[in-house]
Amino acid sequence: MHFHILTLFPDMVMEGLNTSITGRAMKNGHISIEATNIRDFAGNKHGHVDDYPYGGGAGMVMQPGPVYDAYQHVKEQINKRKGIDKKEEACSKNIEQFVENKTDEKKRPRVVYMTPQGKVFNQSIAEKLSKEEDLILLCGHYEGIDERVLEMIVTDNLSIGDYVLTGGELPAMVVIDAVSRLVPGVLNNDVSAEFETFHDNLLEYPQYTRPEEFMGKKVPEVLLSGHHKNIEAWRKEQSIARTKEYRPDLWEKALKEDVDE
Ligand code: ADE
Repeated sequence: MHFHILTLFPDMVMEGLNTSITGRAMKNGHISIEATNIRDFAGNKHGHVDDYPYGGGAGMVMQPGPVYDAYQHVKEQINKRKGIDKKEEACSKNIEQFVENKTDEKKRPRVVYMTPQGKVFNQSIAEKLSKEEDLILLCGHYEGIDERVLEMIVTDNLSIGDYVLTGGELPAMVVIDAVSRLVPGVLNNDVSAEFETFHDNLLEYPQYTRPEEFMGKKVPEVLLSGHHKNIEAWRKEQSIARTKEYRPDLWEKALKEDVDE
């Protein structure tokens, strides 16, 4: 899977993602992550990419031109990698509008704009996104991005929670981390994603490792028994108890979806 980040702070995202599991996944070729600096498409010698908002108000707004040009650049690179040459694309644009839309829609990579106004990101969205071959993540700054370019290029708006951050970089990193660990091969233990937190809307059961006793606290007896059925039943019980206690909202959802199935 290929991640493409449109940002004013490429170093911030690349430094964060180059380490740990995402870094290893890049080195092993399971995923690629590249950041494109929107400022490189400023089109003026000062590198300005923002301006005052029409109608007045606080802060600055990112201009549509640099964002659009950065997006086109990334799209061209994707097409090049896929072996779709420009001629073929230009050709499909000459056919009727509806065909053009359909063809374009098929070829167009998903563009996710990170914004507190978006749908709140969760595990099921991560699972859907992990099926994409390419994903473009657009990070805003200041008071946001000119609406016209968003209307033109964005396919999904995603938020990572109901709070406002200074930019979309941390949210994009969160999304890339959550999505990339679902890409086959990224985690060594592929099966574990099936049994972890949020599978079936339940939180994960508690985990223990050596030593068997730590400061007087013992590992639950059942886990030492080697009795797989009992261990499974205990873990399920723990998952349910935790979900009811810590996330009653999730428990309601788990009950509802179980009935709906
Ligand atoms: N940009 C600023 N705040 C954000 C949030 N909570 N989620 C996604 N993008 C953001």
